[in-house]
Amino acid sequence: MQLFLDTADIGVLTPLVATGLVDGVTTNPTLIARSGQGFIETVAQICALVEGPVSAEVAALDAPSMVAEGERLAAIAPNVVVKVPITWEGLKAVRIFTDQGVRTNATLCFSASQALLAAKAGASYVSPFVGRLDDHGADGVELLSEIRALYDQFEFDTHILAASLRTVRHVTSAALAGSDCATLPPQVFSDLIKHPLTDRGLETFMSDWKASGQSIV
Ligand code: E4P
Repeated sequence: MQLFLDTADIGVLTPLVATGLVDGVTTNPTLIARSGQGFIETVAQICALVEGPVSAEVAALDAPSMVAEGERLAAIAPNVVVKVPITWEGLKAVRIFTDQGVRTNATLCFSASQALLAAKAGASYVSPFVGRLDDHGADGVELLSEIRALYDQFEFDTHILAASLRTVRHVTSAALAGSDCATLPPQVFSDLIKHPLTDRGLETFMSDWKASGQSIV
């Protein structure tokens, strides 16, 4: 499963990209506003930092304006993926981008029927919002499994990009549910590696090694 970071904060992104384990980035209008930086300039910086797909979201609500905005975003760098909300207008825009060969991320997905439509429109990615569904009293991970079954049954190429993940458990559950990618808030990405037994084990190994008086090089 590919791991993306869900942030528009270059300062936060840079050290995490240095791990070599970040496969892409997603942004949304909220994250851009929170960064306090210009949209186009921020997306360009992220694209220069990360080789993989970088989702940048349109702000228009009608298909022709979404297409105009998406074309502007896609021109920033070859790794831009145009993020479009799943509405009828959004799916019209996705269809046009698909025909143009521009990659898209159909976002704000909360149901299997929306995921079906996104795939039929040719979206490269669909983003089911797991955490927000859980907040709503539904089961976000179950939706991922449903979409996986549906896409496999009809051999859709659309990648499932598990989004709105809040915990490490969300990430592993998304992987087990067969998601192709997951986008993580930076803190959740950092938490993936943490385990107290690893810390304790390393501490013991290091003190025993020191006591042995040996060196490797
Ligand atoms: C996905 O692409 C969205 O940017 C994101 O995952 C939304 O997460 P949130 O529900 O934590 O805002």
